[in-house]
Amino acid sequence: MKIDVSRVVFFLILRIYCVTAWGFIGHELVGALAQELLLPSTLETVMNLLPVNERPLSKAATWADRVKSKQAYKWSQPLHYINTNDDPPRYCNVDFSTDCTQNCAIKAIINATDILSNSKETKLRRQESLLMLIHIVGDLHQPFHVLGLGEGGNSVKGTFGGNKFSMHQIWDTMLLDKRLKLIGKSDYLDVLKSKIAIELSYAATCAPEDNAVHALITDTKTSLLACFTDYLKQYFRYMFSHNYICPFKWAYEVNQYHCTDGTLNFTQGEDLSLDYYDRHIEAIERFIILAGVRLAGILNQIL
Ligand SMILES: *[C@@H]1O[C@H](CO)[C@@H](O)[C@H](O)[C@H]1NC(C)=O
Ligand SMILES: *[C@@H]1O[C@H](CO)[C@@H](O)[C@H](O)[C@H]1NC(C)=O
Repeated sequence: MKIDVSRVVFFLILRIYCVTAWGFIGHELVGALAQELLLPSTLETVMNLLPVNERPLSKAATWADRVKSKQAYKWSQPLHYINTNDDPPRYCNVDFSTDCTQNCAIKAIINATDILSNSKETKLRRQESLLMLIHIVGDLHQPFHVLGLGEGGNSVKGTFGGNKFSMHQIWDTMLLDKRLKLIGKSDYLDVLKSKIAIELSYAATCAPEDNAVHALITDTKTSLLACFTDYLKQYFRYMFSHNYICPFKWAYEVNQYHCTDGTLNFTQGEDLSLDYYDRHIEAIERFIILAGVRLAGILNQIL
């Protein structure tokens, strides 16, 4: 049998292209959920800022991935993750002073929030910041974007549905794709929406200091300050004097998941589309909902 090389190459390119980021679908869901939660005035401002061909938020949510390999946006590549110094399941931590010396997702959220909230900035810079923010809040809720081990799990291999992928790819795309195949894309958004209330009440009872989320419940525009428990607040204050500390908390929680739930606890040869999928899919969903809720929280406060 003669193998058509051009088709094989095309397939490979397509495949690499498809699995480079919290698959498009993860980001689309985050964008769609956030849009549901925007205050009417915020929604109007957001729509006016977004380029026409990047509306609605589910579309805008994938922009940063679509441009990051272009020469003009090479600089933005490190904004999609934070390479923490960890070794899960033994040790997890996010230490901003050492993990983000150049640029990272946390810095990106702070930078974008600053520019977006400053009406003296040019429309173009605010637009770019909005597009970036919508995407990076999603990335910061994908555990393998908040992991140092194996460079975000890129060099750790796993088997999924009989094929080998990097763990990063499996978490970006494969696990969620399986869920979507089972439920269907439009129904899935409804499933996630029906769970928003649960996450909001989590925010209200367990994390009342998380103002970005709290603002959604109280419907008020509070400051982004003080979303940590006192202990963590002090811990971060000494290394970082900036006011926007919510992203630190989020990154910390997401990174802890590797240790508390053993994302790297599997045996070689185990098919991760089976028990492993069952163990982690609800957490993945929860992170997507939290990302949507928090993104809306930020936007409602600053726009
Ligand atoms: C902050 O955002 C602006 C607008 O997107 C960008 O030009 C700049 O490079 C960013 N700075 C950092 C440190 O990421
Ligand atoms: C992961 O594996 C380690 C080592 O076998 C074990 O100690 C730990 O309890 C496991 N953690 C989880 C969450 O499964």
